[in-house]
Amino acid sequence: MEELEQKILDLLKDNLMSVSQIANKLNIRKDVAAAYLESLRQQGKLELFEVGKSKVYILPRRPLEVKKPRIIGIVSGKGGVGKTVISINLTAALNYFGKNAIALDGDVKTSGLGLQLGMYYFPITLNDVVKNDKNILSAIYIHPSGLRIIPASLSIEQIQVSALSKFINLPYFENSILIVDSPPGLEDIREILSFCEEIIFVTLPEIPSVANIFKLQEICKEFNVKPLGIIVNRYKKDKHEISIREIERVCELPILGVIPEDKIIKKSIYKKYPSFFLNPYSRSSLEFKKIAAKLLGFNFKPSLTSKIKGLFYGLGK
Ligand SMILES: Nc1ncnc2c1ncn2[C@@H]1O[C@H](COP(=O)(O)OP(=O)(O)OP(=O)(O)O)[C@@H](O)[C@H]1O
Ligand SMILES: [Mg+2]
Repeated sequence: MEELEQKILDLLKDNLMSVSQIANKLNIRKDVAAAYLESLRQQGKLELFEVGKSKVYILPRRPLEVKKPRIIGIVSGKGGVGKTVISINLTAALNYFGKNAIALDGDVKTSGLGLQLGMYYFPITLNDVVKNDKNILSAIYIHPSGLRIIPASLSIEQIQVSALSKFINLPYFENSILIVDSPPGLEDIREILSFCEEIIFVTLPEIPSVANIFKLQEICKEFNVKPLGIIVNRYKKDKHEISIREIERVCELPILGVIPEDKIIKKSIYKKYPSFFLNPYSRSSLEFKKIAAKLLGFNFKPSLTSKIKGLFYGLGK
């Protein structure tokens, strides 16, 4: 008897079948098949559908499990070190590798993500999602470059970014990465740390900026976040800068990438277009690709031709 039950369950593994189909397959009488099926249904091992006049059986469906997105905060103790620039271009680089990445403006008081991209008109923002229960999908905006952002309101009102967690449990965000641009300073950052699961520190190659990473690291310990490493920005290979190795040694964190001081970044803010798309082969864009690849678990080594392309690509743009 158990053997027959097992055979029925095996048959229904990949199909949904009517009583007569099962009876035919197992070469048994239809009323016998119906009895077995009803018994399995009562044990909760099968579900029944009525399709017209026939009864159709199926294995119980599992509730839809939505895998939460990776939420990576781009943080720094000091302001003006390039968090917004990095959030935009890292999102672009992740998109380049085919990843569903979206930049989210966690800097709700001094929001700058949309502004850097020339986007100002947002009927629905993060603020409406958190305060007025608006659907987060209606707060996603697409830049002409294809980059998607979730902006905060341009007002100075404070909202609880951490409350966003419950709004992103949607199939749309499955397998995606949210890159969260953060406010400067050590206070407002707490909201970001309770929302993000992973963080990347941004620093300039200067002592005050690096020293702030120590303070941030202390605050991070209070939260359940995983520091992925450091991005050193605006590196000029100047003798007055702290060396990359020194930053790595004192912070005891891996250096994910070193973004050079790059004219294309200033130009991109003027043009309101991510520098990564203005010139995907520029020195900074190649570095963004390396960092994105590291986040996705592989190594990216720019080819010689891409370096040469970098020299000419942006000309005239
Ligand atoms: N790698 C770079 N090369 C050249 N200029 C850069 C680079 N990174 C950032 N900048 C310049 O620094 C300015 C500040 O960058 P950004 O707005 O990203 O800093 P931030 O950390 O987000 O600032 P805040 O803390 O105020 O939000 C940019 O407007 C840009 O002009
Ligand atoms: Mg910023």
